[in-house]
Amino acid sequence: MNFKIETYGCQMNIADSELVAAILQEAGHSQVEQIQDADLVIFNTCSVREHAEQRVLGRIASVMAFKEKKSPFYLGVIGCMAQRMQDELFAYGVDFVVGVDEYANLAKVIESLELGQKVLKADFDDQQIYENFYPVRSENFTAFVTIMRGCDNFCTYCIVPHLRGRERSRPLCEILQDVKKAARQGFSDITLLGQNVNSYSYDGLNFAGLLQKVSEIEDVRRIRFVTSHPKDMSAELIAAMRDNHKVCPHIHVALQSGNDEILQRMNRKYTAGEFLQMVVDLREAVPHIAITTDIIVGFPGETHRQFLDTVQMLGKIRFDYAFLYKYSPRKGTAAAEFDEQVPEPERLKRLQEIIKVQNVITSQKYQEQIGQVKQVLVEKVSKKNAAELAGKSEDFKVVIFAGEKSLIGKYVRVKITQATGWTLKGELVEVL
Ligand code: SAH
Ligand code: SF4
Ligand code: F3S
Repeated sequence: MNFKIETYGCQMNIADSELVAAILQEAGHSQVEQIQDADLVIFNTCSVREHAEQRVLGRIASVMAFKEKKSPFYLGVIGCMAQRMQDELFAYGVDFVVGVDEYANLAKVIESLELGQKVLKADFDDQQIYENFYPVRSENFTAFVTIMRGCDNFCTYCIVPHLRGRERSRPLCEILQDVKKAARQGFSDITLLGQNVNSYSYDGLNFAGLLQKVSEIEDVRRIRFVTSHPKDMSAELIAAMRDNHKVCPHIHVALQSGNDEILQRMNRKYTAGEFLQMVVDLREAVPHIAITTDIIVGFPGETHRQFLDTVQMLGKIRFDYAFLYKYSPRKGTAAAEFDEQVPEPERLKRLQEIIKVQNVITSQKYQEQIGQVKQVLVEKVSKKNAAELAGKSEDFKVVIFAGEKSLIGKYVRVKITQATGWTLKGELVEVL
């Protein structure tokens, strides 16, 4: 069958879609780009906020119109919504629902579709780490390598641990094998993935140790990782970021709130003061480090005063970028049952207020980059101007500069001359 996967949610889902593509190709199916060419459409879905689910349900409804015109044409849901909603999804017309630990069975599921059966497979398997599958890479310039699955943190607002099961780290040898294969295919930029990468632990090896091992692979030039948890930020990891030149000077580490009481009720296991100290340590060790974060406003019981503590922390820390969310109650999580849910209009108001504050900070941060010379991995011709190229700096910013197409895929050094919105512009200094 010709299949097309549409992916929603976090990088874990992008990586899982690559894994699913490998599983299906191995069973003789072919991946296509366009829905028009597909007889099988798979939605890999996210449940983290209500809005994420609504989007997918809307997409399912529009693809259903297709299904009526084409036969056979199958529609399936995998990922976090599959895990959460299980057979409820059949009411939307889909043919199969397969949860996050069941992807190895997908080929069999598809066989039974041809017999006209609807299929639900969404059991948990806390041992599942998909050994011996090598993903079909979908990104052009970075290879996502999953180093752990699941999450044990149970932040009280979060549905992820309820859907992804217990945290398990993949064996070092498997990770290294994946990285080596990716490097052989030409990926020199590696992104290590997990919900809490800095709690990686396998056979006595911690995350700092893993970074070291990955960096020893010769053709690897850049190593990034998402996401880190503040509670697991060790001096050893900070030193690895300082000393290992392959580890990119960027860290994504979620603050969530700037108020200690809220942090405690979120079950985050650190205080605002500890977070601040961590930022000081990171910046001392890696002076040009980019720090990005996630914030939730309107958590149950959050007073306006407590919200202002978060706003104030943004001003103190000055993140390069922040993903700002309004709290979305998720059934089955502890916080959904908390008293004093903040009314939706108030949550929205706080969100709009904090977006304004961070926008100013982000644009200042980008202005401050002017004059710096950055190493850039060139990815493509710029959308706006065919004479310009676009790429990513080591600190994960989009950089545009005038240059020849032949530079795509190469590392260059660019002097930043201008910052417009969230994009840096510069002049080519040298090709590395
Ligand atoms: N494991 C990652 C986060 C994965 S979810 C980490 O801890 O950094 C990505 C982000 O979605 C979270 O950091 C949080 O800010 C946000 N989020 C999670 N649950 C949410 C909810 N119920 N409402 C609003 N935002 C939520
Ligand atoms: Fe969710 Fe917290 Fe786990 Fe991140 S660390 S996935 S926010 S429970
Ligand atoms: Fe969403 Fe699942 Fe990732 S809920 S954020 S796709 S782990």
